[in-house]
Formats: sequence, C-alpha cells, structure tokens
Amino acid sequence: MRRGSIVRLVVYGVLSGVAASLVAVFVPWLPTSASEEMDRIEFVFWFTTVICVAIFAIVSAVIIYSVLKFRVAPEDDTDGPPIHGHTGIEIVWTAVPAVLVTAISVVSAIVLAQNDDLGSNPLRISVTAQQFAWRFEYPGEPPVTSGELVLPVGQGVKLTLHSLDVIHAFWVPEFGQKSDAVPGIETTLAITPTRMGSYSLVCTELCGLGHSTMRAAVRVVSRDDYEAYLASEREGGGAGEGADDGESVFATAGCGSCHAFGPAGSDAEVGPSLDDLAGAAESAGQPLDEFVSESIVDPNERLAEGYQGDVMPNTYDKSLSEDQLDGLVQYLVDGQANGG
Ligand code: CUA
Repeated sequence: MRRGSIVRLVVYGVLSGVAASLVAVFVPWLPTSASEEMDRIEFVFWFTTVICVAIFAIVSAVIIYSVLKFRVAPEDDTDGPPIHGHTGIEIVWTAVPAVLVTAISVVSAIVLAQNDDLGSNPLRISVTAQQFAWRFEYPGEPPVTSGELVLPVGQGVKLTLHSLDVIHAFWVPEFGQKSDAVPGIETTLAITPTRMGSYSLVCTELCGLGHSTMRAAVRVVSRDDYEAYLASEREGGGAGEGADDGESVFATAGCGSCHAFGPAGSDAEVGPSLDDLAGAAESAGQPLDEFVSESIVDPNERLAEGYQGDVMPNTYDKSLSEDQLDGLVQYLVDGQANGG
C-alpha cells in the first residue's frame, strides 16, 4: 500500500475507535458497584470491552477503506486480480485473537476464583427462596429469620441458597454476583459489600405468576447497626425466629407479594384478595378460621373463582411452625373484622 493509503486507513481506524469508545464509556451500562466482587466484575467487563473496541475499530477501518478505495468503476467489467492468500497476514489474524482470547480467559478465571473466596471466616447467612418470597436466616443465638437482607459493610458474607419449590435466582445488581437457588441442593454466593445503602434483591429466574413481584429489600449498614438490627429482631421487634405474630409471618412468608390485604397495605393481584375471606368462607360453608387455615395449607383444595391451581405453594404446613400458622390465621381473621 502507498503511504497515503495507510494514513487514510489509520484515520478511519481512529475515527471508528473514538465513536465506539464514546458509546462504550458514556452509556452507563453497569449499576454503581457496591461490593468488592462487583468491582472485579467491572474490571473484567472493561478489560474485555477495550479489547473489543480496538478490534472493532481495526475491522471497520479496513472495511470502510476497502469500500472507498477498491470501489469498481462504473464501466469496469473485468475480473479482480487472482489472490492466493498471504501466509504472513494469516498468521497474524490467528495469533492476535488467540492471545487476546487467552488473556480474557485468564483474567476471567482469576476473578471468578477471587469472587468465590471469602477467606476462612465469612459471615454465613442462609437464604430461602419460595414462590414468591425470600427469607433470610442470620446466625447467632437464637438465630434470626427475616424477610429483609441486612449486611454489615466491609464484611465478607457467604450466602447459602435454598429453594422450597422451583428454581429461583438471587441477584442484587449492585453486588454483581448472581446464583440460582435450586430445590434439593445448596448453592452459595460470596458478597463483600463496600457501600452502605438500600438495594433491591430481584429474582431473575422465571418462577411462576408472581415472579416479577419476588423482590426483597437489602440494606448495607455499619457493623454496629447490623448488631443492633439482630438484637432488635431477637427482642421480637420483628419477624425473629419463632416470631408467631401474624403480621410478621405475613411479611416474612411473602403473602403480600401475591395477595391484596388492607391491614398489611398490600395490593398485589397474583392471587385472590384476602379482604373478604368472611364472604368466601360463607360461600364455602366453613367456619372462617378453618377456611383460612385450610386455604393456606392446602390452597388447591378450594380455588377462588378465576384463579388457577398450583400457583400458590402448598408447602406452608412445612415451612411455617404451628404457632406461626395459628398467628397468621388469627391475623387474617382479625383483618376481616377491622375491614368490615
Ligand atoms: Cu422466583 Cu422468579
């Protein structure tokens, strides 16, 4: 190639590279990182993106240059020159991608290994997923169970994920890490929060009608606030282990994700409203508390009109203690009286 051609090729390459870089850098593709793991994931993302932008710039420069430079003249019907390959260029276009892909693999493998490693003494929190709610069990004596994930900042946390029914997936965008919760096995996820604040845990595996409502609040707080939170939950201020007041059970078991219920302030429409259970019990010819209890434990037995079976979990007789179940029934029954 002549000198002028090479200069033009370089100019097109730089222009394409600048355009692609602007899109890559100025669009906020990623949420603000709030964990050490997310910082590393961001590094892999940008490492890969920079390589891709460079390759994109080179390829598009060659294409643009070729289209302009080798454009056939209007009356030119001759064949192009016969070309028999170019060993030197073939070696280059094989070797360069091989090196780059290997580099991306090595960097990714290192980050994956680091993102699984929390050292010898992480905080362990058990996460239980169930259509359509999350439940968290914190260590200590007695253990605390709540429907909110509260984490101390700067502390490596090992989450053990379980599911009681179908496959769900744990994802807090700002933490980067993501894992399925699979029935029958235990999966784990390592998170080291770096930024205090409120986040949202979303389920990212289509798990049924209430999938889009399967969210939980996540708070990253100081170590002292974390201890204070556990202490207040233990005192029965919230849905601690064994807390059997119905309001806490309603919140922790995630009833409000699917059902509207005035006293709880929920207005979800996945399942039938719980505001007129008295009327439903009357239609069913059952005493109210018996009707409510049976509908929780065996929801397929008597379906509300317009609602399908096998949507509501039928595992509450196992996942709730007898006291919790009684508390929940009482809460729902009392709610009828209040609601009129
Ligand atoms: Cu659980 Cu989607």
